[in-house]
Amino acid sequence: MVNTSTTLAGLRLRSPTVLASGILDETGSAMHRAARSGAGAVVTKSIGAKPRVGYANPSCIELDGVGVLNAVGLPNPGVENVAQELWAAARGGVPVIASVFGGTPEEFSEVGGMMAGYGAQAIELNLSCPHAKGYGTEIGTDPALVTEVVRAVKQRVRLPVFAKLAPNVPDIAGLAKAAVAAGADGITAINTVKAMAIDVRAGRPILANRVGGLSGRAIKPVGLRAVYEIAQEVDAPIMGVGGVYTGEDALEYIMAGASAVQVGSAVMERGWDVFAKIDSELKALLDECGYPSVEAARRVAVTAK
Ligand SMILES: Cc1cc2nc3c(=O)[nH]c(=O)nc-3n(C[C@H](O)[C@H](O)[C@H](O)COP(=O)(O)O)c2cc1C
Repeated sequence: MVNTSTTLAGLRLRSPTVLASGILDETGSAMHRAARSGAGAVVTKSIGAKPRVGYANPSCIELDGVGVLNAVGLPNPGVENVAQELWAAARGGVPVIASVFGGTPEEFSEVGGMMAGYGAQAIELNLSCPHAKGYGTEIGTDPALVTEVVRAVKQRVRLPVFAKLAPNVPDIAGLAKAAVAAGADGITAINTVKAMAIDVRAGRPILANRVGGLSGRAIKPVGLRAVYEIAQEVDAPIMGVGGVYTGEDALEYIMAGASAVQVGSAVMERGWDVFAKIDSELKALLDECGYPSVEAARRVAVTAK
């Protein structure tokens, strides 16, 4: 029987499918539901030091056949108000990974430390939001700042730390190397791709913020390329994310070097059962291709002659 359980920087996942940050994960009960539906782990919505309202609507639109375009603007209740949600999420029985954002290394480490105190089992650093001024890619594109953020958080928490990187950079593997050299235990790649849509009848951008991030099917090739490049440069575990809808998408990421995959936009299309569906499709495909486990298929495309 094919085994899809996987290990990520010491975290044991019964399934390699993980709920991605920002997708129906603002509350503990929603994260609990993802766990009940088969997710191997859940990542919280990104949380910052202070409450943030986010951007005006329209902030999230579906582009037919392409994906989802969003500029929600990191809305969140602030770290002081999320303890209950983290405790409720933990009742799902799968690892809860706290996504953290900040404007400075100190802010990242302060919020990360508080999330660890609420029972998070790992921290994911959002170094990659493409549309929030002063956060995300404004920090995650500079290897020196990435180094400072990772160091500050690792000094504060004893948990595995994943650096979530953006594809909107010339050298994503270089950033991954900087993060791992600074102490990151793993890499998450990718966040959304900077993008926009225009309403030609109104003659204006559709999103209130004008520019946002594209997720979904259209970005899978971008995510795969990023994971493949990172897997050549770093040994740390990678969570692949971007356009995973099926077991075949998951196996592509695994063959590119990922140990697990995060699922975001597909939850909106295939529903909560998406985790169990991807896992059983992955099992069937691994079996068909002659791989007994996720580990056996990992990196095969990286080492292919
Ligand atoms: C509405 C929405 C909100 C998101 N919010 C966050 C967030 O708070 N933090 C983060 O790191 N990524 C966030 N993301 C990015 C996702 O975690 C993921 O990296 C991206 O959607 C690509 O995966 P997908 O193609 O499976 O959706 C968000 C994505 C969407 C669509």
